Amino acid sequence: MTQAAQIISFQDIKDTRAEDRKAGGLAMDQIKIRGGNRLNGNIRISGAKNAALPLLCTSLLTDTPITFSNMPVSLGDIKTLSAVLAELGTDIRLIDENTMELGTPTLKSKRAPYELVRKMRASVLVLGPLLGRFGEAEVSLPGGCAIGTRPVDLHISALEEMGAIITLEDGYVKAKTEQGGLVGADIKFAKVSVGATENIMMAAVLAKGTTTLHNAAQEPEIVDLGECLIKMGAKISGLGTSTITIDGVPALHGCDHSVLPDRIETGTWMIATALTGGEVTLENGRLDTLTALIDPLRKAGVQIEERGDDIFVHRNGKPLVGTDIMTEPYPGFPTDMQAQFMTLLTLCQGAGMVTETIFENRFMHVPELCRMGADITVQGNSAIIRGVDTLKGAEVMATDLRASVALVLAALVADGETTINRVYHLDRGYEDIVKKLGACGADIRRAKE
Ligand code: EPZ
Repeated sequence: MTQAAQIISFQDIKDTRAEDRKAGGLAMDQIKIRGGNRLNGNIRISGAKNAALPLLCTSLLTDTPITFSNMPVSLGDIKTLSAVLAELGTDIRLIDENTMELGTPTLKSKRAPYELVRKMRASVLVLGPLLGRFGEAEVSLPGGCAIGTRPVDLHISALEEMGAIITLEDGYVKAKTEQGGLVGADIKFAKVSVGATENIMMAAVLAKGTTTLHNAAQEPEIVDLGECLIKMGAKISGLGTSTITIDGVPALHGCDHSVLPDRIETGTWMIATALTGGEVTLENGRLDTLTALIDPLRKAGVQIEERGDDIFVHRNGKPLVGTDIMTEPYPGFPTDMQAQFMTLLTLCQGAGMVTETIFENRFMHVPELCRMGADITVQGNSAIIRGVDTLKGAEVMATDLRASVALVLAALVADGETTINRVYHLDRGYEDIVKKLGACGADIRRAKE
């Protein structure tokens, strides 16, 4: 990537997407994996998608630019959100393949269009900053997705408590504030929500007075967002706890911020290493953000050692042993690791139980894993996985981001070849997956349908 700065415009992104379609690009892509190779070597962990998305939205809060390093620029979701921000008026400069500079001197449009929001529901995170700085916003309702209905009622009710006047018209959330803008409020979330916590943090930093969030999400991505906002001049305390307090300030300014490494990517490659029986060093991994995953992985027989800023993962030669997990808000077991852990359990000695408490429909990987020979029984929001000796390669369908990568993990260790269709799901959240796994010895390639 040349050093020359390059403005990403909504048109550029639309054209890129048109080119992709013309060339039978992402939507038609497949990934083919021949299982059985051990993974040995190094994988550098990219910046976290779920930190990068809210961080990009902070660019609406300042007219002077923010420079984000360790940004996973090539991810589909980052491109889509960049297109939404460009449409709103944010200046976006690509400095190199992992550095972006963004700032919003003036607002060109207050409307986040359906054709983009439907592709990436996290676009709803522009609502808080638009209202906080400009006092108005029109954001398409994101709609559901494969894993659940994904409502935004907690976002809307909290903004109304801060004085926003919100109507739902033609599938859009139409919001504006009284003359004086948003006012700080004491907000008690009825349930823990990562997105609602992020949206209200970004709405509150420029509001009049103090906002306190009770039952706030505590994910590391929330802490990363808060630390960036503080560098921009915001006054925030309680990050990483369930009570976050924000004192509104008149204006914010740009800053430099490095995106938090992706804990879900880290956990995913830990399981890939355990399944294939190799030895992998995960560069720039952050073990402190994976506490709830480490224990069940170690119980299953995975050796995990912290080496400076890196994490060394290998198997101790003993068979993997089944264990139980239940997904919970941080610091509990992450729902975004549930599908991957289930793949691990399919080849463990004994059995394991997986209970999904966050989303209502996050077992779509189950039928595809069963087609590869796994023995899984679903009862409501729980699944019993009884270990089998081997999985068999098959043609499978990706349905959502984490279910797709669970199929990649199964394919790495299955007998024969697996073809995974609709890999655009994977391209939304895993940078350079073929390159990273191929460099460690996986027999993996991208193909066209
Ligand atoms: C974020 O989604 C992540 N996405 C998800 O990762 C992750 O699974 C989820 O948090 C939980 O950790 C991003 O950060 C971009 P929530 P979010 O609001 O914010 C309900 C991935 O694979 N809810 O914490 O949408 C909701 O239906 C993605 O990377 C309401 O009822 O999740 C769910 O049951 C998938 N009303 C629960 O709360 C609301 O207004 C948790 O959702 C908002 C949420």
